[in-house]
Amino acid sequence: MTARPRLTVIGTGYLGATHAICMAVMGFEVLGVDVDASKIEKLNTGEVPFFEPGLPELLAKACESGRLRFTTDFREAAAFGDVHFICVGTPQQADSEAADLRYVDAAVTSLAPHLDRRTLVVGKSTVPVGTAARLAALLRASAPAGDQVELAWNPEFLREGFAVDDTMKPDRLVFGVTSEWAEEQLRAAFQPVLAQDVPVKVTDLQTAELVKVAANSFLATKISYINAMAEVCEATGADVHDLAEALAYDERIGGKFLRPGLGFGGGCLPKDIRAFAYRAEELGVGQAVGFLREIDGINRRRRARTVDLVVELCDGDVAGKRVAALGAAFKPNSDDIRDAPALDVAATLHRMGAEVTVFDPAALDNARRVHPELGYATSALGAARDADVVVLLTEWNEFREISPSAMAAVVRRTKIVDGRHALVPAHWAAAGWDYRALGRPSVHGSVPA
Ligand code: UDX
Repeated sequence: MTARPRLTVIGTGYLGATHAICMAVMGFEVLGVDVDASKIEKLNTGEVPFFEPGLPELLAKACESGRLRFTTDFREAAAFGDVHFICVGTPQQADSEAADLRYVDAAVTSLAPHLDRRTLVVGKSTVPVGTAARLAALLRASAPAGDQVELAWNPEFLREGFAVDDTMKPDRLVFGVTSEWAEEQLRAAFQPVLAQDVPVKVTDLQTAELVKVAANSFLATKISYINAMAEVCEATGADVHDLAEALAYDERIGGKFLRPGLGFGGGCLPKDIRAFAYRAEELGVGQAVGFLREIDGINRRRRARTVDLVVELCDGDVAGKRVAALGAAFKPNSDDIRDAPALDVAATLHRMGAEVTVFDPAALDNARRVHPELGYATSALGAARDADVVVLLTEWNEFREISPSAMAAVVRRTKIVDGRHALVPAHWAAAGWDYRALGRPSVHGSVPA
């Protein structure tokens, strides 16, 4: 095999497209593969089909280099690649908390019949522990090259919004392998990353699979921990914002992922903790991670409590009231609305009879597609026009920079719920706003609006 293997990347969503583009920029010849012809066409013409800062520029660079192409043809992929990365999604099943593995299985069964020489297939998708062993057997059974086709697991830890940096210089690489040959191929496929002294942990398949869900469970637990403290603060008049800051000075605890508020959403954390709990039950160790159900419960309650705060500011009834919802994406610098707490809150308020107008700097099109019943505006001030309550749901920087007096001039009533602790309460109070935030004492406007 060549010192610099040729790579394919199967699945061109957030993970796969980023991986394919970054690998090509780092000097590899890469073929991206997807079953969605419209996505492939966009990528081949230099268009990134989702919002990710920095990625369009890198796609242009990669295409220009001649090292990156995209196809829907698995036969072509098998002929091209020495190392095949599987980057397809593993969403939650529609009628259960388990992961839906149909896309991972389809990637393997589409590729395997064309693998007629020694090849490494590398799973990057987040899967229930034990999936890799099953897929390895499936590959051996259905590839013409049989035992010559090996499987490795290399979980991906990239965060949306920081996907390029996380891919080019990750915190660590994890290689789950069953042979030295597989490790060598992975080291060759990540040579430019490893050259930057990125630590690598070589382990077995099942540990590699588990690292990913264990990491996401830990992060979710940290967020729900501080949000549980917010519930206690609400009952006592304490301020969870100050509490979190004070905790963060202890380096053993640290301030990252300790930001209280509306809680976590997105295409990973919520479904990963549910799938992990489900898988643990299947394995007879459900009790060991039973706390993850409570983590999920705390997280869901934050959405309900945010709705409660809006209702309180509407004097107990939102029916017929105008609510400005600032944010739709599950987090800033993303257009991703999968399991987005922001849209969940907006849709609930709508169901309760409020007239909800949403603004988000990047996720409006996606939000409109899934929630056509909501109103949409093209700016934060536009959404706030004549509002009875403003509710900040995603902490985009541009929302932090809103002038409280400029917004006070367009609303009907100066009442704001800061679902993400993104604003400085005193600034808003000084402009006449009643300010409410989860786990913080109320602040009342000090001058009439
Ligand atoms: C996450 C993991 O961070 C990443 O390593 C993994 O590969 C995929 O899942 P991502 O889904 O992109 O990444 O988002 P992340 O930045 O982790 O945020 C997840 C959610 O938690 C967001 O809704 C965010 O608003 C929320 N969050 C994060 C908090 O509520 N408080 C915090 O302190 C941090």
